[in-house]
Amino acid sequence: MPLFHPSGGLVYHARAWRWGNRLWAPFHDQVRRWLTDWRPPASHLLLLGPSGGYALSRPFLERFDRLTVVEPDPLARRLLVRRFPGRAFAFAGDPGLARADGFARLARAWPDAAFLFCNLLGQDLTGAPDGFDRPAWLRRLPADLAGRHWASWHDLAATDQAPTRHDPVDLPRGEDLEASLARFWQGRGPDHPLAIHDSGCAGLLPDAPRRLAVWQLAPGRHHLIEWLAAG
Ligand SMILES: C[S@@+](CC[C@H](N)C(=O)[O-])C[C@H]1O[C@@H](n2cnc3c(N)ncnc32)[C@H](O)[C@@H]1O
Repeated sequence: MPLFHPSGGLVYHARAWRWGNRLWAPFHDQVRRWLTDWRPPASHLLLLGPSGGYALSRPFLERFDRLTVVEPDPLARRLLVRRFPGRAFAFAGDPGLARADGFARLARAWPDAAFLFCNLLGQDLTGAPDGFDRPAWLRRLPADLAGRHWASWHDLAATDQAPTRHDPVDLPRGEDLEASLARFWQGRGPDHPLAIHDSGCAGLLPDAPRRLAVWQLAPGRHHLIEWLAAG
């Protein structure tokens, strides 16, 4: 993991240090509420990309007897341990998640675990091959983890424009990214277009209920986040 990796490394930890207790607090409260309601019947949890555990809480982690972590950033691993003293984390090597068959690899390597993708699915991934095709990769997720308990919160899109809505939205099923953006950035149109970075995650589990909310990562940087669970 390079020091200045865009989705991890020092830049991310510096932002967490600067904004964690201020700009990030309302979003982290949303993550904690959602995780409180996610109750996979498993005693072993695999955390994928938790960084320093900024969005995780001790009560949530204490529901599991075993915690295995896949996190390539060494500083993040140290911060995670420091944030939850007394909790034992087993750090796994790279299981090849960013390969085309990455989800099947997870299922084979940890047959007893539930999986939590911690804002990872839409990020730049270490180990991703050149020309990584994220939509194709994600299309394999539901089948490769079928019958397993998994959950994810992930970026759908990022923009520099502040949203007009701040409360989360619960949806009974998926919808077009444009429709989701219109819920949080009202008043856009040909005269007021919204420039976004599309993470490529829209369309996952189209028939599943989901929650959407906006996370302000930094001043002038807003991410539309989706929560999903299966199993
Ligand atoms: C946006 S950060 C995660 C944010 C964190 N979950 C939080 O809530 O603050 C993305 C994380 O994914 C990790 N990551 C990158 N590539 C990965 C991979 N192939 N497998 C697992 N984690 C990876 C990065 O090191 C980084 O910590």
